[in-house]
Amino acid sequence: MPGFRRWGKSKFERNPESSFKLLAAIIVITLYLLIKEFQHPTVRDRGTRSVQIQHAHWNGTGKAHETRAKSVRDAMRYTFWKYRENAWGCDDILPVSGGNSTSRNGWGAFIVDSASTLALMGLWDELAHSVEHILAIDFTESTDLVDPFETTIRYLGGLLSIVELYDAGLIPEDIVHIEARDVILEHAVTLAVKLAPAYDTPSGMPWPRVDFDTEEGEPDPSFIFAEDADKREYDHPAIGPARTGSSVLENRVLTRLTGDAIYAQNATLAWAPLLWSKWATPWAGMVDAPIDIMTGEPVGRSRHWDGGHDSYYEYLLKMTLLAPPADPHMDVYRKRFTDAAYSLREHLSSRSAPAPDHIMQHLFIGRQDDTQYENQQSHLACFAPGTLLLASKHYEQPYLRTFALALLEGCRHTYTSTPTNIGPESWSWIPKFSYDDPLYLPETTRQREEAITSGFWSTEPQYKGRPEYVESLFYAWRITGEQRYRDWAWEAFAAMEEHCKAPFGYAQLADVYDTQTVGESKWVDMQESYWAAETLKYLWLTFTDVEVASLNSWVFSTEGHPFRMIR
Ligand SMILES: *[C@@H]1O[C@H](CO)[C@@H](O)[C@H](O)[C@H]1NC(C)=O
Ligand SMILES: *[C@@H]1O[C@H](CO)[C@@H](O)[C@H](O)[C@H]1NC(C)=O
Ligand SMILES: *[C@@H]1O[C@H](CO)[C@@H](O)[C@H](O)[C@H]1NC(C)=O
Repeated sequence: MPGFRRWGKSKFERNPESSFKLLAAIIVITLYLLIKEFQHPTVRDRGTRSVQIQHAHWNGTGKAHETRAKSVRDAMRYTFWKYRENAWGCDDILPVSGGNSTSRNGWGAFIVDSASTLALMGLWDELAHSVEHILAIDFTESTDLVDPFETTIRYLGGLLSIVELYDAGLIPEDIVHIEARDVILEHAVTLAVKLAPAYDTPSGMPWPRVDFDTEEGEPDPSFIFAEDADKREYDHPAIGPARTGSSVLENRVLTRLTGDAIYAQNATLAWAPLLWSKWATPWAGMVDAPIDIMTGEPVGRSRHWDGGHDSYYEYLLKMTLLAPPADPHMDVYRKRFTDAAYSLREHLSSRSAPAPDHIMQHLFIGRQDDTQYENQQSHLACFAPGTLLLASKHYEQPYLRTFALALLEGCRHTYTSTPTNIGPESWSWIPKFSYDDPLYLPETTRQREEAITSGFWSTEPQYKGRPEYVESLFYAWRITGEQRYRDWAWEAFAAMEEHCKAPFGYAQLADVYDTQTVGESKWVDMQESYWAAETLKYLWLTFTDVEVASLNSWVFSTEGHPFRMIR
């Protein structure tokens, strides 16, 4: 590891390369703009901005579906109390055995990540317990390396969202009083300051890990540090766009709440190499990855909206909803997003060829690796329909609406094609309009049978409690007002209730095609905190009144935490 340090900041300072001149200019401009914007920090007196995102003519149909909303809220209470009774303070409960995991630095990831769901649902007794724990967390200590991406979206976002919901008057004073609100904000600052070494690279892109003891950035533990450089895949740590482009929303909110420009500034610099890259990429708006964190140069040729890239595109759009419209970067964000959305449609979307027993065709999104099209999508990419729909409304792009709703139908097809009514983790299809020879073909008897009956086959058959499909249904319901999206969400929830509910929470499924296995072996003993932070939240928001957390005044982070749109 010591040998690695020679690529650190000091070398950069001695030998500034011309490639950093552009970044230097961005630093100056960003600093100027942020200082200008925050020189009179008035935090509480700014009114909430409102844009017309949601469907406008509900005519009574946007009221809560009380029994369905209650069922989801009951699922949240079950999730909370099983954790409370069996794993309180641990990061996550193991829902089958009742054991626990501490893989997220042991600060109680479930508690922080689920708090905004409890607040929206009005589960006040539960939230009071969570706030008591949150106030006592010491974010300065961690025995493990800290992952700035996961920590920002789950912990920092979770803390800030509670402050936002309190400031909007949505949490009663006896659950969170003003002193508690201030302590939670101080915790957010403490955590952001401890994460600060992540941003200490020549490019501004974050290190994959931070060591809280030495206060230095570190590579991913899987990065090979052999003295022998050929054993390493890349010379320096290289990361995907999601890692470098998914801290800007949270840090922008932290800057607004504290009046300190540094958080938004560092997070803006972190994604600047993607936005103002001097390395041309073949498709408008889309970035090639992975990207070297020392130089900002793409060192791989992977291009897609799936896991690892997803939330960079999501945050381009969401920044233009969250931040003041007068910020001059907004036009760049908007253009990058729109270009990337049309590139996605043009280059990566693919209709499945009809299959012997299934004449319908479905729209999916694949991936590109250099010149090779990969006919494979994962559940994670089912966030795209919701995000594209949000963009179609905000940017008045009717083509994106049509595209988004077709992709959403494709995601739904993966759910309705399995006996559990839950879609797999990833799948492939034969493209109707061929991109040369398909990279993936069904290999096993089982895959061939799936392909024949449904036009796609699973490549990973698990369900990991993921939210993306129901998240997109939430956007579809709130934006189009069409009842069927609410019904689809109910079908998905009913399936999760039937197949995932375990003795100590909601387990992941080993195989969404398997309804034969009885007993515990049908489950994987894991319940990620996003189950409570996102999956249950988006389901509940779909069944409650459409005025709750309206998309006209709230922006949801990539982890489902609501932040206010502020003028
Ligand atoms: C609103 O609903 C009422 C009663 O269901 C119906 O009579 C009316 O035509 C609806 N209006 C619109 C604009 O859809
Ligand atoms: C977490 O699990 C360990 C055993 O793996 C156990 O000793 C500990 O008591 C558990 N923690 C809680 C809060 O239940
Ligand atoms: C901001 O980034 C600089 C490196 O450019 C780093 O030294 C500093 O600690 C960071 N501060 C915060 C609060 O992130």
